[in-house]
Amino acid sequence: MFRTLKMYFGNRRTRTRNFCISIGLFFCIIYIIRVNHTGLYIVKYPGDQQNRNFDEYLMKYVNNYWTKTDTKKILFWTPFFNSWVWLDDAVKALKTCPVSCSVTNDRATLEDSDAVLFHANDLWKHKGFFATIHNVDVEMPNTRSPNQIWAVLSWEPLMYMWGTIKPHVFNWTIMYRRESTIYNPFTSYYKMSDEELNQQPKAKETTNYFKQKSKFATTLVSNCKDQARRYRIIKELQKYIDLDYFGYCSGNINCPAGVPASECGHKHLKHYKFYLAFENSYCRDYVSEKFWNAVDRRQIPVIATTKYNTELLPPKSYLNVFDFPNIKALAEQMIEIGQNETLFNSYFDWMQSYKVDSTSSYCRMCKELHANRPAQSYADMEGWLQDDVCYKSTPWSLVSEFLDRLMFDLGF
Ligand SMILES: *[C@@H]1O[C@H](CO)[C@@H](O)[C@H](O)[C@H]1NC(C)=O
Ligand SMILES: *[C@@H]1O[C@H](CO)[C@@H](O)[C@H](O)[C@H]1NC(C)=O
Repeated sequence: MFRTLKMYFGNRRTRTRNFCISIGLFFCIIYIIRVNHTGLYIVKYPGDQQNRNFDEYLMKYVNNYWTKTDTKKILFWTPFFNSWVWLDDAVKALKTCPVSCSVTNDRATLEDSDAVLFHANDLWKHKGFFATIHNVDVEMPNTRSPNQIWAVLSWEPLMYMWGTIKPHVFNWTIMYRRESTIYNPFTSYYKMSDEELNQQPKAKETTNYFKQKSKFATTLVSNCKDQARRYRIIKELQKYIDLDYFGYCSGNINCPAGVPASECGHKHLKHYKFYLAFENSYCRDYVSEKFWNAVDRRQIPVIATTKYNTELLPPKSYLNVFDFPNIKALAEQMIEIGQNETLFNSYFDWMQSYKVDSTSSYCRMCKELHANRPAQSYADMEGWLQDDVCYKSTPWSLVSEFLDRLMFDLGF
């Protein structure tokens, strides 16, 4: 090591030369990172993502008829991020479901179960920091009853694919992707029927949300580095608007020690007119709870997403960074809305004809178990999971994120 260094910095002439090369390389790296930020000069528009047919991954069988039972039994095979909390959540959620399902994690009930549920991220046991290369596939059920559904659920994009998935193991996917067997977004909305419209309390239509907001804009971010490089948009916006930036990375945590930022946030956040609900990566179809929480607090969400994803959002309910030529134009629009009561309230007009649908994932699954779908299985589940037009974490992407954050902190 010492010898290599000595050789590198050798005599005076080579020392000067090598020093110059190092400086040159350093600026090359900065340049490469900077040209990545085209479009808004800050972040790159991820490009439009077309609707596609994903049937190539599937194998559909002729209709078969399931045993008709009143209550479908679901066996939770894996935990959810190593925790069984999701089982309790399911018990609670299924109480208000119009169809009946029972849930358990007792593996002795395997043969008797109508469905076996796996949480995607828990299909592999990850081993520490080197999770991407060191993993263990979870133990799978050793028998399979005919007509039993094996379903994989995930609420979030799979950043890593740790293990292997054999063909024709899983029948259903329950995910945020529109092409999943059971489309399972965090929240969705639907157009109200005439009957529902008539039942709407009139008062709701005239609620003045503007009056309830005393502050301008806020955001809460806990990851300092991310693929979408949210921190660049935030910093640029701060030049033009009054933005209260909370969370681990902002240096302004404002949370009692030990209270998770997400919990202490909600109470404070609702006083703001705008909430920056940027996702940490660009994934087709992925709209996280950030957006819907802002809607729930009656704030206008400011998002950075593709046109394809905005199809999933209520009409005129948000501001999308990529709809503006630059951040300054976005800021000006925010300021205009923030001063105009009528304009601000109009971002909630959609609530007069649409309703938020918060059917739980468990109830969605239960309904499908009662629906006698034609049989199918994923011939290439791994292919399907990889083909999600979504960010995949690789060693290089981690380095690139780290470098971009470093450059950002250095003021580049
Ligand atoms: C406020 O917004 C409404 C609706 O866009 C518009 O008609 C009105 O002229 C605006 N008022 C002011 C003072 O700009
Ligand atoms: C589930 O997948 C298995 C394995 O490919 C298959 O034999 C079975 O028919 C499928 N069942 C249903 C109900 O889709």
